[in-house]
Amino acid sequence: MKKIALTGDRPTGKLHLGHYIGSLKNRLELQGKYEQYVMIADTEALTHNAERVKDVRENTFEVMCDYLAVGIDPKKTTIFLRSGIPQLFELTSYFLNLVTLSRAEQNPTIKNEMKEKGFARNVPLGFLVYPVSQSADILLFKSDVVPVGEDQYPMVEQANEIAEKFNRLYGPVLKRAKPLPSAHGRLSGLDGNAKMSKSLGNAIFLSDSAEEVKRKVMTMYTDPGHIHVPDKGRVKGNVVFEYLDAFDPDTKEVAKLKAQYQKGGLGDVALKKRLVDVLEELLLPIRRRRAEIAKDRNAVMGLLEKGTKKAGVAAEKTMSEVRKAMHLL
Ligand code: TRP
Repeated sequence: MKKIALTGDRPTGKLHLGHYIGSLKNRLELQGKYEQYVMIADTEALTHNAERVKDVRENTFEVMCDYLAVGIDPKKTTIFLRSGIPQLFELTSYFLNLVTLSRAEQNPTIKNEMKEKGFARNVPLGFLVYPVSQSADILLFKSDVVPVGEDQYPMVEQANEIAEKFNRLYGPVLKRAKPLPSAHGRLSGLDGNAKMSKSLGNAIFLSDSAEEVKRKVMTMYTDPGHIHVPDKGRVKGNVVFEYLDAFDPDTKEVAKLKAQYQKGGLGDVALKKRLVDVLEELLLPIRRRRAEIAKDRNAVMGLLEKGTKKAGVAAEKTMSEVRKAMHLL
């Protein structure tokens, strides 16, 4: 029996290279080795976008196109939509009784995001208890591993606390999960910010045109002290080198370029041109496939529906165990 891996994305926009390095590439490698579930967490996107239901629906389609274009294969990975699994809401409501307000307020992931979004006391309750619904996501599918970035580790910890408390109170139904770090690390934004994100305006999207990619790479942060070609330049903190390390298959050549840059005599423009070519090699086939896939909206959403039906079967299986353990109907 294969182990179970489960991850998800909130559909808040199209996916970018940060997603590719931080999660998509990993999912492609896990596909086939694990019984993999990938969830589009539409209802979790609503915890901080309650009025934007149409955007969330549109982004669900866009994210689905991104998944399929990079090669997440619905035959090998169950891709599903959170709003199509009522058992998740049922389980969340029982879990809410197992978590205190002070525990919810201490969650570092939520604390950070609350600060970013400027919520303070006006935080929607749904957002505050987001870790509890994410715990339901993880535990309902009896996940062995949750492949996520470090920022999401507190979510897995919360899930495990709930699993233990549940099992202690009602009987051994739920399984502890482990976070699984990405084998490919993470990617900074174009401006050198540690996080690539749509809202920071520092992202290259998988669907960007060749011209957009080129324009964005040309704005990339390098070494502000490296002004003239003969100047010595810094490699550390230089986003172009970070991206070459992540995407350029010719590691020997990259090592040479680094040495040359540090010594002086290598200009930023020449370096960026190389990166444009390297990225184009990755993105061109993705872009082509994506354009093709996006033409048939019904087919794309049909695949999501099919995955959701399949996930629903697994969901009901655990949920009936939960109800029985809790002496419910
Ligand atoms: N919180 C995750 C994010 O913001 C998305 C997510 C929702 C998730 N449910 C999940 C990730 C369950 C892993 C497992 O990226």
